Amino acid sequence: MIENDFPDIEKILRKMTNRKEKNMARLIDGKKISQQIKDELKEKVAAMKSEGKEIGMAVIQVGNDPASSVYVGNKKKACEYIGIRSESYELPEETTQEELITLIGKLNDDDRIHGILVQLPVPKHIDEDTVIKAISPRKDVDGFHPQSVGALSIGQKGFVSCTPAGIIQLLKRSNVDIEGRECVVIGRSNIVGKPMALLLLRENGTVTVTHSKTRDLKEVCRRADILVVAVGRPKMIDASYVKEGAVVIDVGIHRDENNRLCGDVDFESVEQVASAITPVPGGVGPMTIAMLMNNCVEAALL
Ligand code: GUN
Repeated sequence: MIENDFPDIEKILRKMTNRKEKNMARLIDGKKISQQIKDELKEKVAAMKSEGKEIGMAVIQVGNDPASSVYVGNKKKACEYIGIRSESYELPEETTQEELITLIGKLNDDDRIHGILVQLPVPKHIDEDTVIKAISPRKDVDGFHPQSVGALSIGQKGFVSCTPAGIIQLLKRSNVDIEGRECVVIGRSNIVGKPMALLLLRENGTVTVTHSKTRDLKEVCRRADILVVAVGRPKMIDASYVKEGAVVIDVGIHRDENNRLCGDVDFESVEQVASAITPVPGGVGPMTIAMLMNNCVEAALL
């Protein structure tokens, strides 16, 4: 076992040395860090179980959008790994808003359920905001409820959206200082950009949020010590947007012209100037589910 581990370590060290010698950015390994978090949670859940506390999460999907089915499947798998009991609700496309709200109400009142997740997007005839508001803030493991978002904005306790929360963990566990640094977020979505800005602010970063109407985007990005890219366009951000030595976090996930996964960042170009960078896949993506699991364990402790 130990003998078999050595070649791996050697390989990793060689890879790291090669990157350093070639002056390429350090890789921030989301796969490894998310696995650490899941293993910590697994231990915590086992300890809670031995004291008689069982954690339950309800996962609701309306319709059968293939991408949503993959995400939901991964979330259920993560629950199983950690020891969280997941209850799956696969509802037909024609489900009415009233039926969905009734189910959420029942789950809100069910003591065996600690977290409720409605996979988005929901079909067009259902109003997303109404559905999010129907989930009890105590069970809002996605952190999408207005109360959760409001609590984050005024520094009070509440669930935080999983992707930005995962990015903070990536930075902290990779020893990237946030305090006093120039942080630029590209994108202002409710799920990523806005909560990301609030979390960086909470860590005492100096935060700028940019968006499609930002003038001189390149200039603004080139000020960043930490650049979080959630722009939604494949490989848009190349080295010309990045200051020498910046840390670059890529939230995007797309298929490129060769059907290979890629992010919003042009990795081959940016790794030449950044000091650290998240790859796609294996960067931000795996952190989202790890933080969802973390929120569910926290919900059970409320
Ligand atoms: N659809 C895409 N991302 C997410 C997510 O993080 N949570 C939920 N509920 N739906 C999503």
